[in-house]
Amino acid sequence: MPAKIISGREIAEQVHAELRERVAALNARGISPHLVMMRVGEDPASVSYMKQKEKSAAEVGISSETLVFPEETKEEVVLAKIAELNRDPNVHGIIVQLPLPRHIDPRKVVEAIDPLKDVDCFHPLNVGKLLLGEPYLLPCTPHGVWQLLLRSGYSPEGKHVVICGRSNINGKPLFAILIQKKAGANATVTVCHTGTRNLPEITRQADILIAAMGSPRAITADMVREGAVVIDVGVNRVPDPTKKAGFRLVGDTDFEALLEKVEAITPVPGGVGPMTVAMLLWNTVLAAETQAATGRC
Ligand code: GUN
Repeated sequence: MPAKIISGREIAEQVHAELRERVAALNARGISPHLVMMRVGEDPASVSYMKQKEKSAAEVGISSETLVFPEETKEEVVLAKIAELNRDPNVHGIIVQLPLPRHIDPRKVVEAIDPLKDVDCFHPLNVGKLLLGEPYLLPCTPHGVWQLLLRSGYSPEGKHVVICGRSNINGKPLFAILIQKKAGANATVTVCHTGTRNLPEITRQADILIAAMGSPRAITADMVREGAVVIDVGVNRVPDPTKKAGFRLVGDTDFEALLEKVEAITPVPGGVGPMTVAMLLWNTVLAAETQAATGRC
């Protein structure tokens, strides 16, 4: 039987509906959640992601603003803007879209954001809180993967989850989320990476396989166990002259081949992507609620 396709679009819609109610409750208290997004330069993927974030924010009643700086903007200008946004009680969430131009240090930028407003959850303080088992915000893509699993009926509780990829944005925080000692997490997690020997032998042991290595179609059918659940975090642009844009998006798995073998799988696009955006909005609402509770807005 072909696999169930887990629709990130549908599950993100459920999350949006829940967030609309929380936004209405904040509005009733005179608080209007506000997200500021910054970009330096015109990286085409960043432009496209940010448009999607703006559109989805509006759909749930979150006001958002995108500040675009020219490619040659000096680091201190970006840092000064972040300091101003940190002080503004009407701003609840701040993100700086990555990648940044080479002359700007992303670490300095991330560390300049007030951890209370760090809705990407990239700040070392928030990453540390997650690792210590006391999370405030959760990083958007890993949280989106977790919610996709929970809401599609594939709780990672007690399962062997194999993550391919150890990036700071995806693999590492996903590991930290899924090993938490709490209902809906509690998974046994193996993280594979470029130093892993005999990758297929390990991926075949996964009840839940998460592909997050940024390598187009790298997970092939022989690498998965029959009946596994597969979450594809990859977003890779591959040349396609039949498309107007000249490219199409593929994930990190050989989706069509895996369909015949696995229990369930996420598509690309329409899988993890919409969930990343939904979790950014979740964080913005949580940040506004938290700042209201601490008298910061
Ligand atoms: N670049 C790619 N993904 C992300 C993300 O989730 N947040 C930010 N700030 N930049 C990104």
